[in-house]
Amino acid sequence: MTAGPPIDELHFAEAPSVETEIPGPKSKRLIERQERVDSSAVAYPKSVPIALEEGRGATLKDADGNVFLDFFAGIGVMNVGHSNPYVLDGVHAQTEKLVHTIDFPTEARLDFIEKLDEIAPGDLKGNNRVVFGGPSGSDAVEGTIKLAKYNTGGTGMVAFRGSYHGGTAGALSLTGGKKYKEEYTPLLPDVVHVRYPYPHAERGGDENAGSVCPVGCGALDGECCQSISCARALEDVREVLSDPYGGLEDPAGVWVEPIQGEGGVVVPPEGFLPGLREIADEAGVPLIFDEIQSGFGRTGEWFASEQFDVTPDAVPMAKGIGGAGLPLGATMYHEDLDTWEAGGHIGTFRGNVPAMVGGTRAIEYVQEHDLLSHTSDLGEYLRERLREAGEGANSLGEVRGMGLFVGVEFDDGEDRTGKEIVADIQEYCYERGVLVWTAGRRGNVLRLLPPLVMTAEQAEVGMNVIGEAIAERAP
Ligand SMILES: Cc1ncc(COP(=O)(O)O)c(C=O)c1O
Repeated sequence: MTAGPPIDELHFAEAPSVETEIPGPKSKRLIERQERVDSSAVAYPKSVPIALEEGRGATLKDADGNVFLDFFAGIGVMNVGHSNPYVLDGVHAQTEKLVHTIDFPTEARLDFIEKLDEIAPGDLKGNNRVVFGGPSGSDAVEGTIKLAKYNTGGTGMVAFRGSYHGGTAGALSLTGGKKYKEEYTPLLPDVVHVRYPYPHAERGGDENAGSVCPVGCGALDGECCQSISCARALEDVREVLSDPYGGLEDPAGVWVEPIQGEGGVVVPPEGFLPGLREIADEAGVPLIFDEIQSGFGRTGEWFASEQFDVTPDAVPMAKGIGGAGLPLGATMYHEDLDTWEAGGHIGTFRGNVPAMVGGTRAIEYVQEHDLLSHTSDLGEYLRERLREAGEGANSLGEVRGMGLFVGVEFDDGEDRTGKEIVADIQEYCYERGVLVWTAGRRGNVLRLLPPLVMTAEQAEVGMNVIGEAIAERAP
């Protein structure tokens, strides 16, 4: 079987092509109409003022016919590209047959669960179960909270500063970003947020790298990664979980993004996740890796946990797993945790069948087109180009990421904050047909999350524009 056309046939060939001011007249009308009828909670068009009409591969067309190179993929959703024909064929066929089945068995549902096992990280392969609840990442995180509480009998939760886990009450409780929750507290009690290793932002960074790690975790086959930033974070977790005065009653688990997304594409030092695994095991609590943004091929492995050779106990996933951008959330967990009764995690939409077909087909497309290695190579290329661009830009503090999960942190300049610099770069790019996004605790990180089907030629053209933007707007 050939899973659909090769990646260079998926896109609007003319991208980037901008024929009007941005926003063009039609986009402007639709944005004004949206302001009249839609919620004031709408956010994205405030940063990138366009109305969308059509998408193909790594390209998007707006209402005025301008064509953009898409470097954010609906925030990491469209991993196999917009309107991937191989995925859509399967989705259409299933839609005509049967759409909603709650959790009655269908071929499509069981095929998808088996396909997820094929790509399961580490020791979860062959030893896992998958639960579906509501069709979002937030709901998958809620499922992990219930799973951890049910299995441990505990209530306390350890999460990290800089994290984002979703917008529902439990997921928001785990989230570090205060702006998302300040108006809605109190949320769940018993959540402690500890330091996530973030060498670039920490005072002194990793200047002590090379000295002996105070934790001495030995998590890397008896060695330590020698990052002081990693050591501080692990020390925090160890204290909370095992110090009699650690403050957290009865812990149920530890929730972590293996690479923080909204927090600024922060990649932890290599000893952090292995060290966390050791500490969670000693404390007898499940370790939950939120792979909603970092998973499904984004880093060049199916799951970011594989980059660090650590197997979590549970993995909430969403975003890309519906293949065609169809909403689907799921949690994979070790079968030993499969202790709950029927109805342990529920939701009317606990597994939409066309989305499951989309997910299976997306996995096949990635496998048949060898997109994991393409993702690794293209990601290296993007980071290399960004480092080159940074040579002339004093405010460019750090380029980081794995695969096509890329972050560029801008420090405050003399006359503008890092956040303002990133917003200026974003504007320069969309005016020239390249869509980029932002992230970071202070909004000061340029985040690139292109579809994994972006071609090398598209990446080069896009990087020319992004490089110019950095030269112009972040000198
Ligand atoms: C790491 C992470 N967890 C959870 C979520 C929440 O997913 P959703 O927006 O589908 O509820 C997100 C969304 O950006 C995310 O990046």
